[in-house]
Amino acid sequence: MSTHSFTIDDQPVSFKDGQTIIQAALAAGIFIPHLCYHSEFKPHGSCRLCTVEINGRKMPACTTPAAAGQQVLNHTAELNGLRRILVQMLFIEGNHFCPSCEKSGNCRLQATGYWLQMLDTPFPHFFPRRELDASHPDVLLDRDRCIFCELCVHASRDVDHKNVFALSGRGIHTRLIVDSPSGKLGDSNLSATDKAMQVCPTGALLTRGEAFHTPIGKRLYDQQSIAESSFKTAAATFKEQAGE
Ligand code: SF4
Ligand code: FES
Repeated sequence: MSTHSFTIDDQPVSFKDGQTIIQAALAAGIFIPHLCYHSEFKPHGSCRLCTVEINGRKMPACTTPAAAGQQVLNHTAELNGLRRILVQMLFIEGNHFCPSCEKSGNCRLQATGYWLQMLDTPFPHFFPRRELDASHPDVLLDRDRCIFCELCVHASRDVDHKNVFALSGRGIHTRLIVDSPSGKLGDSNLSATDKAMQVCPTGALLTRGEAFHTPIGKRLYDQQSIAESSFKTAAATFKEQAGE
């Protein structure tokens, strides 16, 4: 496999054939904020948080192939400002109450907000009404916290081979739906150990009974930044994919 190089914020980055910009960046220890990208799954480019400027054009780093000679801008005031607005919009479109959420400290949305130095939102909150599903003995689905990243949809389909989840509706009416006779998790074949449960970046899908086992202050993003955590996840995946 041949390697070539391009630059991110003037720093040379080498890449392998077939790699996307975000894959090459993460492998090189350069963080590009992302929410719907996960190194184990094919990217689908829905959140747009990973938008970078490639030779003057704004494009998602998770779906754009790396190419020799590209000049990529990543950490600019403009791009981080746009990313902050995207995260602020996710907060106002859902019902995210971090101080009372079990996932606080382990939540990618919250950690991304901190990383982007988001302190509040200038937009009015929608406070949408979304259905809570507490019908499963081992799992809770709190749709208030869903950011429609589709990672559970892909994990349930491609890894668990169960197809439990799908997105339905458009815009503010988008909802995560469950494939079961009643539409409830309780009569789906989801298990708390499914990959779909592990990939949810927010507190939308929670394993019951874990709650505050790990105290605040000792959680993932209390111990490491979202950048460090992303490098580790990507490195583990790339190693496995390379069969090392
Ligand atoms: S439940 Fe979690 S993984 Fe699934 S779409 Fe919502 S935020 Fe993403
Ligand atoms: S991470 Fe690239 S569009 Fe979501």
